[in-house]
Amino acid sequence: ILAIWHQLTKTEIPELTRVSVMMRERSRVEDTMYAMQKAGAGSLQVISDFDMTLTKFAHKGKRVPTTHNILNNRLLIDDDSTVKMKKLFNTYYPIEIDASLNPEEKLPYMVEWWTKVHDLLIQQRIRKDELARAVRDSNAVLREGCSAFFDCLAEQRVPLLIFSAGVGDILEEVIRQNHVFHPNVHIISNYMDFDHTGVLQAFKGQLIHSYNKRAGALSHGATLRELHGQPNVLLLGDSLGDLSMADGVSTAQNILTVGFLNDQVEERKESFLNSFDIVLLRDETMDVPNAILRFIV
Ligand code: TMP
Ligand code: MG
Repeated sequence: ILAIWHQLTKTEIPELTRVSVMMRERSRVEDTMYAMQKAGAGSLQVISDFDMTLTKFAHKGKRVPTTHNILNNRLLIDDDSTVKMKKLFNTYYPIEIDASLNPEEKLPYMVEWWTKVHDLLIQQRIRKDELARAVRDSNAVLREGCSAFFDCLAEQRVPLLIFSAGVGDILEEVIRQNHVFHPNVHIISNYMDFDHTGVLQAFKGQLIHSYNKRAGALSHGATLRELHGQPNVLLLGDSLGDLSMADGVSTAQNILTVGFLNDQVEERKESFLNSFDIVLLRDETMDVPNAILRFIV
């Protein structure tokens, strides 16, 4: 029977046989997918990271900007600050993805990075009414097939929680400009707080960085409670820190995790394989998540 099942996934989901797809335990993936298929769309929710998960890592040979990096624009901040922000990125991003450090070791550096960047942005008195233009002028681009992913979830009324350590206001603008900000989309992120004249004065709530998503998931219980009727979770991320995004779902029955391994691929392959059910190597598309979705719903 198992052989027939394996055959089934091979014919029904040819995307999973690509060389860019790796699985530590194929049988676990298949069992989970069949259980999710049996329960159907009504039992499913999707929890996804944003930067470099729903957006591409690189496009036409150039790095795609994260929501923070979209703000690193001369329209919004002065020349001195753009240089500073770039320097901070070059200092801290390598730490974020360093395979030789564990999350606890990275955590203080991440807090430092986010705090410095947010302080800088506040100092620059960014205006709310200029954000849309900054997004339009940027090279932000969703993964190929991402619109189909959003549209399918909306059609099937599957809730999509986007859990991002990026900037919520920018994230919303990116998905709005891509016409995929559907009513089933919920967002947990760092939101800007503007004064009455529309000038950035602070960031709201507790800071979310790439390695404290567990705390965020637990403290946003109210938002997550809307998703409590959906015990099956498809989780997408590009960082080991993203795996804790589903920690607030206390009623989870089946969780299938997909990790986009974009950068430092050889160095991080082993840890990704040990942590995510499915690992996608340098894959700039949503082909695999779309195929999984087609199979389940
Ligand atoms: P994510 O949770 O949506 O992936 O967003 C966090 C990403 O943003 C993470 O990979 C680090 C990145 N980042 C920047 O690119 N620039 C910055 O200034 C900061 C603070 C984070
Ligand atoms: Mg990310």
